[in-house]
Amino acid sequence: FRVDWDMEQAEKNGYDHFMLKEIFEQPTALRKTMTGRLDQEAKRVDFEELQWSPETIQQWNKITIVACGTAYHAGLIGKHVIEELTRIPVDVEVASEFRYRRPIIDEKTLVIVVSQSGETADTLAAMRQSQRLGANVLAITNVVGSSIAREADEVILTMAGPEIAVASTKAYTTQVLSFYLLGLYLAESKQTVTEQKYKQLIESIIELPEKIEGMLEHSQGIRWYSDSIKDAKSVFFLGRGLDHAVALEGSLKLKEISYIHSEAYAAGELKHGTLALIEEGTPVIALITQDEVSEKMLGNVKEVKARGAQVLGVAEEGNLDIWEYVDETCYIPNTPSILTPLLTVIPLQLIAYYTSLALGNDVDKPRNLAKSVTVE
Ligand code: G6P
Repeated sequence: FRVDWDMEQAEKNGYDHFMLKEIFEQPTALRKTMTGRLDQEAKRVDFEELQWSPETIQQWNKITIVACGTAYHAGLIGKHVIEELTRIPVDVEVASEFRYRRPIIDEKTLVIVVSQSGETADTLAAMRQSQRLGANVLAITNVVGSSIAREADEVILTMAGPEIAVASTKAYTTQVLSFYLLGLYLAESKQTVTEQKYKQLIESIIELPEKIEGMLEHSQGIRWYSDSIKDAKSVFFLGRGLDHAVALEGSLKLKEISYIHSEAYAAGELKHGTLALIEEGTPVIALITQDEVSEKMLGNVKEVKARGAQVLGVAEEGNLDIWEYVDETCYIPNTPSILTPLLTVIPLQLIAYYTSLALGNDVDKPRNLAKSVTVE
């Protein structure tokens, strides 16, 4: 009796690829990231690991988020969330740009670096530069003992567990969750959120892992869509506000592992150029989850439809208005608008995965990309 013991197969735990396994691990990763920070009974956020005094928090007149790749996209969500909840102005910048200019940073700036690996060379350099300029640096990272975790002034560890696939999934969602919790934590300290809104958001955050589980139970439901776009020349992702930030991540996922050209656009920018690239049959994925701008989004969908686009609309359950505008719909469970990114990104991750699979690519190790970029 002989067993062929393949370590990699064992680690994939029955899944065909690490990416799929990691997509399915997201509900658990999110729950672990909440543990100890979100008191589900008292409905309060607390970060015992953060050493800031209320006076320290009060003195920040600006927050700068610095990161690369997917972590940068999580930072874009962080900007919306922190500005909305605390009214502190937030900049987001890719580390390789930030480090080579003269950033306006001082003791009154909180710099947040986001890095799954905690070893990305540009992010590490940006962090050191910020510290030299006197800023307090908070790292949101997934790896204990990484360079960034060791050198940052404060650390929030995302509890995603090891992420093997180059295309980041569970690290991203735990980073986004960390921004929600941090936003609420800062807002409570600065008293910029009402008790009612604070509690309502916490209740909705607690429900997110279960909602993602529900979505993943129907993960195969989106597979047909990948078959329909796998031969496309180009795929466009459109959204406004938080939906635009998620569109950028969905587009990056798709191009990273399927090698199909893809762009994400702030939907209102379309008419300033890109519209010319929409032809008969061009696939467009329109994210329509932000109530305040949903009518504007539908106007943009009309514009691309008029040029022959094939539109998949991603919206909240119960939104029947979109039917007359889009060709296909993909529904996400209901949640407050500010929290939809954690749900909207799930079908986009699955679309990228199944498209890569349909094209026979190496899903977990896409060509020319590395999991951790420790060179400039
Ligand atoms: C590489 C990876 C990306 C990742 C980026 C930043 O490019 O392929 O998936 O988002 O680095 O990595 P970090 O570890 O700093 O989050």
